[in-house]
Amino acid sequence: MLKYEQTPIQEVLDHQTEKAGVHLLVKREDLNHPLVSGNKWWKLKYNLEEAVRKNSKVLLTYGGAFSNHIFATAAAASELGLKSIGIIRGEQKLPLNPVLAFALSRGMELHYVSRSAYRTKSETDNYLERFENFYWIPEGGSNLLAVKGVMEFAAAISIPYDYLCCPVGTGGTLSGFVEGAAADKKIIGFAVLKGAEFLDEEIHKLSKKSRNSSSWRIVHDYHFGGYAKSDLKLGRFMEEFTTAHVIPLDPIYTGKMMAGIYDLLSKGFFARGSTILAIHTGGLQTNRYINC
Ligand SMILES: Cc1ncc(COP(=O)(O)O)c(C=O)c1O
Repeated sequence: MLKYEQTPIQEVLDHQTEKAGVHLLVKREDLNHPLVSGNKWWKLKYNLEEAVRKNSKVLLTYGGAFSNHIFATAAAASELGLKSIGIIRGEQKLPLNPVLAFALSRGMELHYVSRSAYRTKSETDNYLERFENFYWIPEGGSNLLAVKGVMEFAAAISIPYDYLCCPVGTGGTLSGFVEGAAADKKIIGFAVLKGAEFLDEEIHKLSKKSRNSSSWRIVHDYHFGGYAKSDLKLGRFMEEFTTAHVIPLDPIYTGKMMAGIYDLLSKGFFARGSTILAIHTGGLQTNRYINC
């Protein structure tokens, strides 16, 4: 079992929250583990238990060269004394970026597949045949066991709130919130990919409740150009927010979610008098390679 630190809830108070008449709280789940942080901890929890139960000594997963999931899986495997294999999309580029250098330092074996082969899964499937007795975790770590972990996290939140906000990549995290939060909560996901309307279908696959529930939605207006894309407006927002509230954000996930929340505040989207709970899903290692 990975170590887990209890995390605080931080209130964010400024003239925008005051003008919108809402309470904005940030659950600092980024602080739950130094390396396997945020949603990654919860998405991996039951996958790791299952790997151990099956007596698998190797975790095998996929991801892009800057994947938070690759980073977290390498760290989790090394903490639990397991081996890890990362199948990386794209050619190897040297020197390795800090995410892959970190993964390698934690013993992850890295294999590269071309983007086209990765897309069609032709070559990745060959890799699956090459290794034995591994525990397979899908790209981004989103499977039903990941949903189970996030669901447990959601169900354990004891403070009252009306809206729960989270960033959405593959949809596993949002699915866990839809499954685990009480029926009267509204769950708002902020898509970080452009053209990610397919996500609703992914959520339906991962969360049974989602089909018959109108209490969740994904907003698609805050991807800032697409996955890992950014612009000056987002950069300025993140800098001002972090300076004012001493909450670091990453530009790929939590920065976009928070910028989206603030824009929605200015549009009167959230009911006056309501409490918004934004989940800080981690991903702060991104800042390290943006800065270097
Ligand atoms: C920091 C961070 N936040 C949010 C997400 C989105 O999670 P999901 O892919 O489960 O939608 C990710 C990606 O997994 C992430 O790394």
